Amino acid sequence: MRLAIVGITGVVGEMLLRILDERNVPVDLLDGFASRDRDERIRFRDHDVTIRAATPEALAVGKYDVVFFASSDDASAALAEACVAGGAYVIDNSAAFRMDPAVPLLVPEINPHALREQHRILPVAICTAIILSVGVNPVKRVAGLRSIRVATYQAVSGAGRAGLDELAAGEEALGRGEPEPAPRVFAALIARNVIPQVGALDAFGDSGEEKKIADETRKILELPDLRLAATAVRVPVRYAHSAALWVETEREVTADELGVALKEAPGVVFHREGIVTPREVEGGDLVHVARLRGEGGSKRHFQLWVVGDQIRKGAAANAVQLLELLREKGRIA
Ligand SMILES: NC(=O)c1ccc[n+]([C@@H]2O[C@H](COP(=O)([O-])OP(=O)(O)OC[C@H]3O[C@@H](n4cnc5c(N)ncnc54)[C@H](OP(=O)(O)O)[C@@H]3O)[C@@H](O)[C@H]2O)c1
Repeated sequence: MRLAIVGITGVVGEMLLRILDERNVPVDLLDGFASRDRDERIRFRDHDVTIRAATPEALAVGKYDVVFFASSDDASAALAEACVAGGAYVIDNSAAFRMDPAVPLLVPEINPHALREQHRILPVAICTAIILSVGVNPVKRVAGLRSIRVATYQAVSGAGRAGLDELAAGEEALGRGEPEPAPRVFAALIARNVIPQVGALDAFGDSGEEKKIADETRKILELPDLRLAATAVRVPVRYAHSAALWVETEREVTADELGVALKEAPGVVFHREGIVTPREVEGGDLVHVARLRGEGGSKRHFQLWVVGDQIRKGAAANAVQLLELLREKGRIA
């Protein structure tokens, strides 16, 4: 298979390489692109991958079966269609195409049926929505979903390499007893702190992240009228996003019945007892669910805790699963 990765120097691009290797994807050619040419190379299996500036001329050459984008909304908007014109499928981690009604928002454990013949651009949903949806889809299957309220606890790596660097710089300065650098990526100082804002706030007071969580979860779950309210919070955790959920079901169900559905669900690890934390799930592709309980014994209102590694299942692993889905359907060899 002939692949290109745009954004190969970023945290998602790096993880794509790792997961392609882990899942033994056959790769005959792999080209790497970033915002500019680099002298250094990146190792993939027994090859050194050169890094070149992503341009339409370099990407629309009919040379690739699949082009992964792990860069920016602007780069995807500018380059993805040229890749398709060159004959490639595009698997895009940016937000550029996610809410386009003509493209699906696929999470293979939930809605692989949404892939149609004409789909050549496959966006990967926002990491938080993927993790939340995998965790809550078993509830939808057995009892329907009327509403979700969610508070997220999002790792700094959700803001890419710059987010990891900002936490490290703050922690180091605090450790040395020096003033912390002013925040650049986050809305406030992140070390030893919790920031109740992820992205810019709109006129209604919702952040960009909160709107994407709501819109994209509805699209993945195929519930356009689902009531969903989110508060997205940045926490000084390096990897893996967590979420506390309050869900209202359409039909009566017991917590035990939901527990059975969660235990059987693909991609989910259900912890009937105890807790699970981001540090424990980092590095894995499964979504963990714990703390399931009915509110005061209710059969329609439940609370649960959902955790997943957002660079893996929320981005790179889901992207590689989409490539595997294309292979399963015979779209690519
Ligand atoms: N981090 C996450 O948890 C996560 C989860 C889901 C989705 N995503 C999405 O995945 C994408 C990558 O995120 P990331 O966290 O990996 O970011 P990152 O660590 O900041 O890396 C960004 C990458 O994109 C490249 N890039 C930036 N602008 C570009 C342009 N105009 N043309 C070509 N390449 C360009 C950068 O190249 P240089 O090194 O040359 O600057 C770098 O390789 C974003 O769309 C993000 O929203 C991220």
